[in-house]
Parts: sequence; C-alpha cells; structure tokens
Amino acid sequence: MSLTSRLVDTPLYVQIAQSLSRQVADGALRPGDRVPSLRQLSQQQRVSVTTALQAYMWLENRGYLEARPQSGFYVRTPFANLIAEPQFDASKTRPIAVGRNPVLIELNEASNDARNVPFGHGCASAELFPNRKLNLILQHVVRQTPLHSARYDLPPGVESLRRQIARRSLEMGCEFSASEIVVTSGALDAINLSLRAVAKPGDVIAVESPTYFGILESAASLDMKVLEIPTHPQGGMDLDELERAIRKHRVKACVVMTNCHNPLGYVLPDQYKRGLAELTGRCGVPVIEDDLYGDLAFEGPRPHPVNAFDRRGLVLLCSSFSKILSPGYRIGWVAAGRFCKEVERLKLLTSVAAPSLTQLVVAEFLESGGYTRHLKRQRSTLAEQVEFVRQALAKYFPQGTRISRPAGGYMLWVEMPPRISAMKLYRAALKEHISILPGTIFSATGRFKNHIRLNCGVTWSDLHDRALSTLGHLCERIHA
Ligand SMILES: Cc1ncc(COP(=O)(O)O)c(C=O)c1O
Repeated sequence: MSLTSRLVDTPLYVQIAQSLSRQVADGALRPGDRVPSLRQLSQQQRVSVTTALQAYMWLENRGYLEARPQSGFYVRTPFANLIAEPQFDASKTRPIAVGRNPVLIELNEASNDARNVPFGHGCASAELFPNRKLNLILQHVVRQTPLHSARYDLPPGVESLRRQIARRSLEMGCEFSASEIVVTSGALDAINLSLRAVAKPGDVIAVESPTYFGILESAASLDMKVLEIPTHPQGGMDLDELERAIRKHRVKACVVMTNCHNPLGYVLPDQYKRGLAELTGRCGVPVIEDDLYGDLAFEGPRPHPVNAFDRRGLVLLCSSFSKILSPGYRIGWVAAGRFCKEVERLKLLTSVAAPSLTQLVVAEFLESGGYTRHLKRQRSTLAEQVEFVRQALAKYFPQGTRISRPAGGYMLWVEMPPRISAMKLYRAALKEHISILPGTIFSATGRFKNHIRLNCGVTWSDLHDRALSTLGHLCERIHA
C-alpha cells in the first residue's frame, strides 16, 4: 500500500514525512543513511517533486534529516544522542555520619519562592496535575462521607486505597496484597519508617551516589551512617562494590532507586534488578526501594521495581502520589514485606495516621480509571519538556557540559566543566530570580561540586528559555 493511500486530514507531505520519521525511530533508516532522491520519492509516492521537497523540509526542520550540498538528504544522528552524558566517578568512600546541611532550608525557600523560575523545585508545575478531577472527587467524597474528619484511619490505612494500590502492583510485576501495604504521609515518611524498621542509630546504610538529599537527611536525623557506593550515571550502583561494602562494613540496609532515578534519570534493566535482589537476599540485607517516579517512565511498559524479584520479603517498596496526582495530599505507601507489622507500629507511634480525606479521594481516583489516563498524558508531556530543557542547555551552557538523558521522571543532572562551582552558580542565579539545586547536596562527601539538578516539570515557555540562557552567561562570568 502506498504511504499516501490513507485518506486523512493531515497534509500529504506530512503523512509522507511522518512515515519516514517512523522508519528512523524503528531503526529501519539509520543515522548516515541516504534517503531516496526527491525524484525517486515523488515517483515512489506518486506525488509532485514539490510535495516530496516539502516532506524532506518537514523532516529537516525537526532534526531527522540533513541536506548535504550536491549529494542529497541523509538521516541525522538524533540531536539527543549528540549531547555527552555525565561521567562515572568510581572513587570509594567510607561510612560517614551525615552532618545537618544548613543550606537545605535556604534552598527550599529559594525553590518555593514564586518569584523565582523554579528549576530548583521538587515538583512539576501546578497545571500538570489533575486538579479539576481531584476537586470533583473530593466534593463527592465529602458528600458521601460527611464524618470523614471525625475519626483516625489508623495504620495500615484506608482499605479501599490499599486495595487499589495492590491492584496496580500486578502491572509492576509484584505480588503484594492490600494487607502488606501501610499508607504513609508521602514517600519520605515511607522511607523514614522503613529505615527505622530495619536499622538503628549507628548502623551503616548503603546509598547511591548521587542520591536524593532527603535520604541523607533521614539518615542524619536517625543517627545512621551512610556509605556512598559508586554509581554509574547510566548503569546504577556498582553491585560488586556493594557486595564488598556489605561484607566489609556490615551494611544494615541499602536504599536504591532503579526507576527514573532522582537525580540521574535512568531506568535500570530487569537483569540488574534481579541481580540486586539476589545479592541482598543472599546477604540478608533489606533494600529500601524508592519508586516514587516509577510510573513516569517515558517509554514501554511500566518498569519493574527490584521488589518484583524479591523472594524473601526483604525489599520495602516505597512510593507516593506526590509526583503524579498531588504533592499537597501527602499520601504515600510502603509494601514492607516481612517488616510490614513493624512499619505499621512505627507509623502509629510517630504520627498516628495518614490524612483520611485525601486517602479516600486518591482511592476513588484510582478506581475511576482516571489515574491511568492522566499518567499517559503526563508521561508524554514530561518527556517533551525534559527534551526542551536538554536542548536549551546544550545551546547555552559552556563547552564540556554533560547532560543526563533521563528515561523518565523530570529531573536533569548536569555536569559542568570542573572550573564552574555549582554553589557559586546557585547564588548568582538566585540574584537573577532563578532557582537551581547544587550537586553537593546529593552527597554527604562534598562531591558533585560542578553539578546541578534541574527540574524540567515546568511548562516550557520563553521565560524558561531566557532563564537557561542567563544561567549559561553566569557560568562564563562566575569563574572569570
Ligand atoms: C526521590 C524522592 N524520594 C522521595 C521524595 C519525597 O516524596 P513525598 O513528597 O511523597 O514525601 C522525593 C520528593 O521530591 C523525591 O524526589
């Protein structure tokens, strides 16, 4: 069948171009391949040479093809693949007591200040959440359950919500039931409770490097030491090093994020996750898995967490609805395996219960099927926004800058040339009303001095483009 035989509203040249772009995406046409000449394409498709030219110009404008003088049109290496990714720092450290980081409060204020362009913020723009639908459900729940606020929904939490989460676990390749889930006040609460359930003050916890700063702060507040395991920016925590560390330092728990890592953005393959579950299972070390962004992988089916490969009930899977539905609802959960009862007890002791009303609303949102629909839209929007920010960074930042290529979520990890201090850049940026996060807060060892993390969950506009251009200029200025 000719490419053009389908009768649709899309102009003919766009139909031809889109069909060729699919061949590039599928790998049938590879970077460097020469595509048919204009005359050949017009004959193949039975269209005029002008229409063929329009199709090639459409593809050229979108970066699929390049015209080479006197030679024809060729498939380009995708722009995204030309940007170098951050490097692996293999240096080893020892278990350390994490100091309280005074900068965090300041960073938090800067990120939340509405006057600042929020690249340092921890969550997506308000318009990316399903606010209207949640509000409607909230009104419905209040009408149905007028006494919702006149009681505690004690741990493990509202049953209808736990049933809905357990249902979703099948899609993740896991097999936990509603009775194995404890509802928490967000993912950080889930991580904190899990740490307390498996380790005590003075114990050593293995973490990725870089790792989400909230985990370092949790360890600090619980007087646990952290051991940062070298982590490959595309391949995850070095498992050989983890095994050595477990034996040498009597590691009591391991905190990992294998899906849509914050800040690195990778999704690790099943083989890695199986290997991690086998290694920690063999050594009897519990794994606290932060899967907060796991539903936000840009492509393919929902990636499995490590929990899917756990045969011993040692992987405590933590997540929340903060990044997808509502950060303000403060609803998270943990499927805590053999530690379930202990986590339940700790939840009761530390904060009695999670909020009742928002548990009911999230349960109903999940039951209505709204979650899956919303997720589909949000994933493609975020993938596009991450790419906008990457491309702007590639344009404005100094030569030698390396940028992560996330497989999901909305964080970018940027390694600038070593001469650029992320902390200085942060301070200079703040004077221009732009917030960013310096890399040093993602480690307890003072590493990542020339790295920054950027939130791409912003609805892209000229304002954001200008802010990144300003950051690029500041990079040049601050080291001069
Ligand atoms: C990796 C990671 N884990 C945990 C949290 C905390 O999530 P919650 O708001 O659900 O407590 C965050 C929030 O930014 C995060 O990025």
